[in-house]
Amino acid sequence: MLAENDSAASGLAEHAKRLRATRLSELFARDPQRVAALTLDWDDWRVDLSKERIDEAALAALLKAADTVGLPNWIAALFAGEKINLSERRPVLHTALRAPASTQVLVDGVDVTREMRATRERMAELAGAVREGRRKGATGRPLRFVVNIGIGGSDLGPKLVCEALGDDGMPGTPDVAFVSNVDPEHLWRTLEGRDPASTLFVVTSKTFTTQETLANARSGRAWLARALGHERDLAPHFIAVTSNIEAARAFGVRDSDILPMSEGVGGRYSLWSAVGLVIALRAGWQSFAELLDGAQAMDTHFRMTPPPRNLPVVLGLLAYWNSRWLAHRQRVVVPYAQALALLPSFLQQLELESNGKSVRRDGTPVDGPTAAALWGDVGTDSQHAFFQWLHQGTSEIPVEFVVPVRARHPLDDQQTLLVANALAQAQALMSGRSDETIRAELGTALSGPALDAAIAARRSPGNRASTTLLLPMLDARSLGALLALYEHRTFVEGIMYGINSFDQWGVELGKSLAKPIVAALSTQAPLPDATDASTRALVAYVQKLQT
Ligand code: F6P
Repeated sequence: MLAENDSAASGLAEHAKRLRATRLSELFARDPQRVAALTLDWDDWRVDLSKERIDEAALAALLKAADTVGLPNWIAALFAGEKINLSERRPVLHTALRAPASTQVLVDGVDVTREMRATRERMAELAGAVREGRRKGATGRPLRFVVNIGIGGSDLGPKLVCEALGDDGMPGTPDVAFVSNVDPEHLWRTLEGRDPASTLFVVTSKTFTTQETLANARSGRAWLARALGHERDLAPHFIAVTSNIEAARAFGVRDSDILPMSEGVGGRYSLWSAVGLVIALRAGWQSFAELLDGAQAMDTHFRMTPPPRNLPVVLGLLAYWNSRWLAHRQRVVVPYAQALALLPSFLQQLELESNGKSVRRDGTPVDGPTAAALWGDVGTDSQHAFFQWLHQGTSEIPVEFVVPVRARHPLDDQQTLLVANALAQAQALMSGRSDETIRAELGTALSGPALDAAIAARRSPGNRASTTLLLPMLDARSLGALLALYEHRTFVEGIMYGINSFDQWGVELGKSLAKPIVAALSTQAPLPDATDASTRALVAYVQKLQT
């Protein structure tokens, strides 16, 4: 971790001061090699950082700072299965899930990849049985509708991938739906009009204690029992993915239908594990394997490439730079790909649950901001929603454009429009529109204060930073690499703050405080006097509305 008085840190402060006071256009004017110097290539991807408020000198200082905090050792420790999730005393094993077949990852002397491979084989078997219609429901019908019940990491990753890849068009590919919210509306709408006899629930929960997931799983079971008869054995309609085997068993899932998750794989890093069963069911085994392949290629790049050309390292440092040193409290991600519509919400959990912390690994406070709030939506839709605010609002918010260049469908003209819009938005954010251009456009119709007001309303200040990530096309492999890139950059950013990116203690408090409120609302009893006055009053009012 970098202390405030560290020479590396003070160097960064100087660079930040200098660059805050410099327009982006000025940086281009000063350095004709700027684009080449701030462009990274990997495979056939290109990442252009030249529109960010950074230059070679600042990047060099960041790389030095990364060295000071021992980033290369942390990367090695991650891949070696060391227990770098200190507060939970666990290793961090998502990269082991996609490691090459020859790799061993030893944790306490045991090679964890063996069990992971065995689970993967069981996943393939289960997915094949469902898709080929060999697995039948309680009445003998094949299972053609799969409902993944899970929340957070047990929902967002597989949902994003299923949405991005779609089905593989093979006969027997089931419909899939995702139910996460404890709001009964979510499950109700999902099941309405569906055939219970051909419905399979995949209950995905690492802990198998998450209240939302268990409530939905119980309601799903009740729906089946009502339709198929309470005397039926409903076990064929359930698969569980969990590290809490006992709890899944207690719920009534057969041992052969419980796929284990390793304790060392965090929820938000788990789509590569059995949590990806629903991906295999929908997109097919081949796509799931290619997804893992792409992630593995990014892992190799992250592990082996020197920091200055290492995509996750440089992007992680940039995230740290923008948040910690340039004080940008937000970051916007705009995928120009409908298939990636869920990327921003996936990244919200990945980045904010990982790096939304204010103490370091040793318990001391972080001296400055950590992860910026992340949000976004697809382009071009977002151009007609929040881009006005990005262009003319009062603050500069760095934007990340993620642009697969080639279409997966034969509508090339539309794809050209899409890609052109992404590039134009990045250009507009940086260049803005000058008073002279606006004056010329307005012509001679206005003069005096009316002309001044018209110019002011139309002025785009520009000088707003962005990154553009171009990839040739979105497919299972490139999606795997993209998601692994985000995982690793999140890790790098966390290392720079000195925090543990792999725990999430902050979400526990709300969970435990919900329990007495659930009890009060279920029994109409008041909350204990020790509860704050506002919450007591709200509970009392809800109780009144309930009756
Ligand atoms: O939101 C907290 C959290 O623990 C996430 O980290 C996790 O992905 C989610 O809840 C779901 O947890 P589980 O998979 O144990 O149901």
